[in-house]
Amino acid sequence: MDLLSIDSLSDEQIATLLERGEHWFEENRARRPAEPLKGRLVLNLFYEHSTRTAMSFAAAAHRLGASPLFLPVEQSSVKKGETFEDTARTLGAMRPDCLVLRHRENGAPARMAGMVECPVINAGDGTNEHPTQALLDALAIRLRFRRIEGLKVAILGDIRHSRVAHSNALLLPRLGATVRLAGPAMLMPDELLATPSVDEAIEGADVVMMLRVQRERLAEELGDAPGEYLERYGLTPERLARAAPGAVVMHPGPMNRGVEIADEIADDPERSLILLQVEAGVALRMACLELLLA
Ligand code: CP
Repeated sequence: MDLLSIDSLSDEQIATLLERGEHWFEENRARRPAEPLKGRLVLNLFYEHSTRTAMSFAAAAHRLGASPLFLPVEQSSVKKGETFEDTARTLGAMRPDCLVLRHRENGAPARMAGMVECPVINAGDGTNEHPTQALLDALAIRLRFRRIEGLKVAILGDIRHSRVAHSNALLLPRLGATVRLAGPAMLMPDELLATPSVDEAIEGADVVMMLRVQRERLAEELGDAPGEYLERYGLTPERLARAAPGAVVMHPGPMNRGVEIADEIADDPERSLILLQVEAGVALRMACLELLLA
């Protein structure tokens, strides 16, 4: 079994991942050692930069007794012109128990899954999907609210290019949440241009999920003025006041502080779940490795 997309998972598998994720969250907090995957080898292959996903997959493998190894792509034979296919087959020949892949091209994890015998996990492919991010987001919401069903989730920002938004828009409605997507018109997919404004989408939301924006994409519209983006589309205390009482704030990271999110919101110990998302990420990825390898 591979973990390539949200739609590749059954409802039962999603429920298992969230239940086991919650179990591993508690075990990690208590720092209780576990070794169900002792002796197993997890190869991590990241063609794009990463802090959270790369380190949490490594931590998850360690916590389960498996050995995570990283191919440093910048120092590898990729830089000598080796093709993706040859790299995939080369790593597959080392008989790993799992390959974790982040790649700039949509569909690269699915291509790799067709070339190796072990399970492949999509750690983010282009603008397509980031399924384990959506699953860890769901786990963080569940840890905070003890439910997902019936919650209103506003996902705001660069919807067009966000693999996080795409995976969450597939996952959260399956778990009973209502999802509203909004952002600047130039960053919305064509089929969603008629959706509400950021202010309308945030109205009454229980969860406000901000997305990372890239300043270079906004230079033309906003004159390269990050403060202007914050004013027009970002999460300020005034805008957050439109959300439901007790609403929480999420961000997959890395954040552009002062662009899509104001500092005081990102660092609000009551309302910001951003570090809880990171903690849930280790636990959820333990559940993924357990499901695929155990
Ligand atoms: N959320 C996320 O994918 O962060 P990284 O790019 O740091 O892995």
